[in-house]
Amino acid sequence: MYNAKDEHEIRSFLCSKGEKVKIRIVKETGSTNDDLKKEVLNGADEFTVLIAEKQTKGKGRKGRSFYSPEGTGCYMSIVLRPDCSLEESTLLTTMAAAAAADAIEAVTGISPGIKWVNDIFIGGRKVAGILTEGSIAKDKKGLEWAVIGIGVNIMPPEDGFPNELSSIAGALTDRRSENIRNRLIGEIINKLIENYGQLKEKSYIEKYRSRLFFLGSEITVIEGDNSYKATALDIDSMCHLIVKLPDGKRKVLYGGEISIKTDS
Ligand code: BTN
Repeated sequence: MYNAKDEHEIRSFLCSKGEKVKIRIVKETGSTNDDLKKEVLNGADEFTVLIAEKQTKGKGRKGRSFYSPEGTGCYMSIVLRPDCSLEESTLLTTMAAAAAADAIEAVTGISPGIKWVNDIFIGGRKVAGILTEGSIAKDKKGLEWAVIGIGVNIMPPEDGFPNELSSIAGALTDRRSENIRNRLIGEIINKLIENYGQLKEKSYIEKYRSRLFFLGSEITVIEGDNSYKATALDIDSMCHLIVKLPDGKRKVLYGGEISIKTDS
């Protein structure tokens, strides 16, 4: 359970640039992304962070849900008001995935992999995901705001993951006695601030690439109802995935989803 000392403890892990961060912790909500999207329309500042103990309508990418039971995960969202082009703003999700993976490694010592675009894996299981939502500015040159949601399974839920997730989802640790949540949140905020500052020069991309454990492997590309096999070759300077098709042709994937059979 979060209590009054948690915000103080999270702050104690923040770097000096973290002074500008506004943190709010709630016991339960539908979705921290949905809450901040409402707040941002009422003028919420950049670096407003909302953390929930539990989400009842946690959202994932592509209209999926994100299982967010009480007390075993980190469910947080942050408001950004990026001063960048629309093209650059497509990097927000990868910079957040790199930040979350680095934070997980800093806190646990375990080096996670990333499944393009934004799923964080340990031992072949998904332990974290990122959901970025945003609004295009009136002049259409960039984003007016973005809300980045990060969900991490810190421990397995008391009763285990639901059946549909039991073969896919994993957690950072089994050790319930060790409370790493506040440090993890602090580190995620620190790494996000760091990578966000590198959005224009894109220097975080090397860190992101180094975690793409499936490069060189055969993958399945899923495009709507259609799926096909390909070999993952690399990412380009905008984190698009470059694949080789069975006929030897190269293709650049600008979005969508891949599935991988190998372990991270
Ligand atoms: C995914 O795995 O597809 C993305 C999962 C993102 C989950 C986080 S938890 C905090 C924030 N609030 C939400 O409703 N979703 C994100």
